[in-house]
Amino acid sequence: MLHFGAAYYPEHWPEDRWPEDIRLMKEAGITVARLAEFAWSTMEPAEEQFELDWLDRAISLLAENGIVSVLGTPTAAPPAWLTHKHPYTLAVDDYGRSAQHGNRCHYCANSTEYHAHSRRIAEVMARRFGSNPHVIGWQIDNEYNRVCYCSRCRARFHEFLQARYRTLDALNARWSTAYWSQTYSDWEQIPLPIGGHNPGLLLDFRRFITDSYRRFQRVQIEALRPHLREGVWITHNFMGWFDAFDHYALTEALDIAAWDCYVGAGYHDRSKQAAAHDLTRGFKRKNFWLMETQPGCVNWSSLNNMLNQGEARVLAWQAIGHGADAVLYWQWRSAYGGQEQYHGSLVDQSGRPRLFFEDARRLGQDLAAVADLLDGTEPLGQVAVLNDYESRWSIQWQRHHNDFDYVSHLFHYYRPISEHNIPIDVISADAPLSDYRLIVAPALNIMDEQRAAALVDFVNGGGHLILTARCGMKDRDNALLPSRQPGSMLSELAGVEVAEYYALDKPVPVQGDWLQGQSRLWAEQLNILDKTVSTIARYGKSNGWLDDQPAVTVTNRNGGRVYYVGAYLDDNAQDVFIEHVLKAAQLAPPFDAPAGVEICPRSGADGRLVYILINHERAHQIVSLPWAAQEHLTGQRVDGTVALDAYGIAVLTQV
Ligand code: GLA
Repeated sequence: MLHFGAAYYPEHWPEDRWPEDIRLMKEAGITVARLAEFAWSTMEPAEEQFELDWLDRAISLLAENGIVSVLGTPTAAPPAWLTHKHPYTLAVDDYGRSAQHGNRCHYCANSTEYHAHSRRIAEVMARRFGSNPHVIGWQIDNEYNRVCYCSRCRARFHEFLQARYRTLDALNARWSTAYWSQTYSDWEQIPLPIGGHNPGLLLDFRRFITDSYRRFQRVQIEALRPHLREGVWITHNFMGWFDAFDHYALTEALDIAAWDCYVGAGYHDRSKQAAAHDLTRGFKRKNFWLMETQPGCVNWSSLNNMLNQGEARVLAWQAIGHGADAVLYWQWRSAYGGQEQYHGSLVDQSGRPRLFFEDARRLGQDLAAVADLLDGTEPLGQVAVLNDYESRWSIQWQRHHNDFDYVSHLFHYYRPISEHNIPIDVISADAPLSDYRLIVAPALNIMDEQRAAALVDFVNGGGHLILTARCGMKDRDNALLPSRQPGSMLSELAGVEVAEYYALDKPVPVQGDWLQGQSRLWAEQLNILDKTVSTIARYGKSNGWLDDQPAVTVTNRNGGRVYYVGAYLDDNAQDVFIEHVLKAAQLAPPFDAPAGVEICPRSGADGRLVYILINHERAHQIVSLPWAAQEHLTGQRVDGTVALDAYGIAVLTQV
């Protein structure tokens, strides 16, 4: 079922206010409330003294009014008695400073005391509410984000390394520690990386952080699971492109993924938001929850402007179009105190609806109108953009050009494809690839045989593949591969190798029969290795080395096709290139739409195909349809054209 909701903190308000809040929720069309994720000190005011009756009453009152609950385990905000009694549960930053009580996420994910207290509160909640028919799901913690550098983390890191390498000889060899005399003769000598460090150690430290959160999360999953009735899911609310840990590893043990989507300063950006939804859907390769989004404005950005009137509608529908099965605002009502007094909400400090409430109410109505229609449907990507945390980290630590940002580079490929209204999956570089017509591997820096073999198979099966700058440079230890880029197997596949790479101080011209423009930031000079390879474009006059050398190539292989793009093309040239690639792969949108109108198809196993049309512009637009359709928000039949108001939405099925 498609849900609409908000984060609600009944513990902030006198109980005689709850009925009015819930009355207003019903008026807004809210179907789900997220509760309790910061309520530890209310639920356990003193060690092992639990007070959960209030939460039980809140869940019941919501349920009496047709609103189900999602419960958060409160471990992002431990109570003061806990941190006071166990100061070692507090995280230590890279300067060696211990966090202070009173903010949040200030715990060390490796603290065994913290594990014990987290396990207990999660279990107490689960025993009480796990079989409650009105609790449909659980969120563990809130936005994992802290990296701790305490002495216990250091000891755990050593254990992690011992399990991974067995011997110091192996570790020394794989980290190339002879370099700068880093050779370790005792595990205890190995530091936690502060600032820049050995590339192998840095990569293992990120794996260790991933492992630490995985363990912390597992403690809570194991505490919850035995007490949950069937069908109740467990999730965590991630933060889009945040990268302190590998999200594919973290989401493995969760039932669904969820994320918190905020615009912050400025206004929504169609492709950026879309890419982050597709990223989150790709964590588990299935629909997700939008656990938090912005009711108008935030309080934490440099400029907390309000979204335009109606803009939130576009944001919510876009999330659904990209696979969200729920949209929840943060938060229901502005609290009098606490750190977030200026944040947007649906109800203000006076207890009355804010102006934004009307936008929300309209959305609630619309979602209710199509909830059944969308039930069981999901977006199906035709193109996969590969995402890899290890490659991202590796490039981030050694950017070579400060402006070379992994996510921006990935986005450089995502944007023009998505603007063609071709559904994209953003998936792990290690996910199955066979469902796609086109795969883009942006800066897939870390390469091993398995990855390369999967790409070779994909092309041999008839797929089209784009390898881009910085592909296939490092191994899994973050060491340079002994072969030239993109590594021996992919070089053979693409028929090229990178003779040299250049960080560019100024753009370099790029020219070909149908592709003209510039390469900025980065240029790879390609050696052509076999006769099947055609050069799509060459570099123009620049540093001498690059002059007239191949920049972008293509070759056909066993029905498939491989592009190697050594240039970082300017946006116009990129648009031309992508248009060409899409045509060659016979990828086309379901129908044409004016720029600024997004088409998001969701399909059901029963063959149902629902098109969500989103007008991202603040101007009226007309879309011509190739078939007669039913529009489900108005209930009207449309023949020929559908008119979209500013920020307008249509939900269509063919008739
Ligand atoms: C995060 C948190 C919420 C709230 C919002 C404010 O996403 O999860 O508790 O602080 O930010 O934007």
